[in-house]
Amino acid sequence: MRNTLTIAVSKGRIFKDALPLLAGAGIVPKDDPESSRKLILDTSRDDVKLVLIRASDVPTYVDYGAADIGIAGKDVLMEYEGDGLYELLDLKIARCKLMVAGPEGSNTDSTPLRIATKYVNSAKRYFADQGKQAELIKLYGSMELAPLVGLSDHIVDVVDTGNTLRANGLVPLEHIADISSRLIVNKASMKMKHAAVKLFIDNVAKTVAQNNPDN
Ligand code: ATP
Ligand code: PRP
Repeated sequence: MRNTLTIAVSKGRIFKDALPLLAGAGIVPKDDPESSRKLILDTSRDDVKLVLIRASDVPTYVDYGAADIGIAGKDVLMEYEGDGLYELLDLKIARCKLMVAGPEGSNTDSTPLRIATKYVNSAKRYFADQGKQAELIKLYGSMELAPLVGLSDHIVDVVDTGNTLRANGLVPLEHIADISSRLIVNKASMKMKHAAVKLFIDNVAKTVAQNNPDN
């Protein structure tokens, strides 16, 4: 696959937001992942394929070279421990914030804290930096439920509009990090397919700049 560029992307919001950026690099998928069951999509360019995987699996595919390039949320990258990839470009899509949240009136002053989250590494680092003792409970989704049923005192999750927190009687308490999606590249692909990877990044970067004239 030396002459092919394989790009790993997750279905849903990242795919939707990435479409204009890919189009700016002359790449239009031949199938719609919402209606097709295909996991490898051909594109308008014979030398570019998209592979559709779960958001949290994107760094793994890129790290191991199963994809040359990937689009992954900073939240996912902050959790990832491999070192076979470069994070090269902020795509400024799928923006949200990684936050500590909990019941109204609560705080994280009294420790030890019980925190439910999908983001165990980030949460551990965040509370350790503050010198707070925290027990992390790993979940894979619906974090907002945990404090409601007494599984945890607080959660660490991504927040955008705050609607999910509000609907469940929770409030954002502490800001951990601003999140957006990033372009990641396999380290070996960066060397072996340098011209193709660089051209792709340059084209995407132009569209990102056009779409975000103020930052
Ligand atoms: P997985 O399927 O691997 O568990 P996921 O369900 O979090 O991942 P998505 O919901 O598609 O996958 O989210 C992909 C990325 O979009 C997240 O990693 C995060 O960076 C960003 N994101 C998540 N929720 C929001 C949101 N409400 N608003 C904006 N961006 C978000
Ligand atoms: C994400 C996240 C929150 C919600 C925050 O869930 O896990 O629950 O978005 O967004 P808001 O502040 O605008 O309500 P998502 O919609 O991706 O569902 P999922 O993670 O369960 O797929």
